Amino acid sequence: MRQLIAGNWKMNGLSEEAAAIVGPLRRGADGLACDLLVCPPFTQIFTVAHILVGSPVAVGGQDCHPNEKGAHTGDISAAMLRDAGASWVILGHSERRQDHHETDALIQAKTHAAVAAGLAPIVCVGETAAQRVAGDQNKVVGGQLAGSLPPGFSGVVAYEPVWAIGTGKTATEADVAAMHLFIRETLVMQLGQAGEGVRILYGGSVRPANAGSLLAVPHVGGALVGGASLKAEEFLGIAKAAKA
Ligand code: 13P
Repeated sequence: MRQLIAGNWKMNGLSEEAAAIVGPLRRGADGLACDLLVCPPFTQIFTVAHILVGSPVAVGGQDCHPNEKGAHTGDISAAMLRDAGASWVILGHSERRQDHHETDALIQAKTHAAVAAGLAPIVCVGETAAQRVAGDQNKVVGGQLAGSLPPGFSGVVAYEPVWAIGTGKTATEADVAAMHLFIRETLVMQLGQAGEGVRILYGGSVRPANAGSLLAVPHVGGALVGGASLKAEEFLGIAKAAKA
């Protein structure tokens, strides 16, 4: 399966900045061996999707509400993301688990809503530094997978150790290999044969310089990139390191 290189812009990207990232991506995306996805903030989805019409670069949101519609001031539904031009959505990112106290049950409901609206979900999991020091990483990630993925899940899982996000610290190749194997085994236990086909992304300080070695680790199906996705050249540099 082709690797997926996904850019999570987080709360970055005014109109001019968005166009400055996406224009070069559009020109540089042809002939890549991987799938490419950008997830701008809500306010830029429509514009970015418009710029990327006819290109192989897909567009996604960074969150959605679990309900279809209704009295939820300030929230955005999965159907609204679709309507704006998104075909993917990131769910359960650690920053949302922390900042918005999102629980596994809520993330499962959002995942269900996303799939029902025709969006492909990327469900994020990952342990904190304290949890890893305590040796609890498998317990934490296993619990997140059990709680966040609906029965019959089809989509992508992203492993993002919280301590590697935006810190410049990446997990070692051995740690990534061990965790991705654990996630694969857990997915097969939860989903049966379908668990074999789920792409498992690594996220946390991925850069062009370390992308090649991280993307070569078994069971790494791509990368979820934060900071480096805000510069087209760096994001394309990571994409070029992806395996066919
Ligand atoms: P950085 O690549 O900036 O560490 O962010 C990773 C991330 O959180 C992507 O979702």
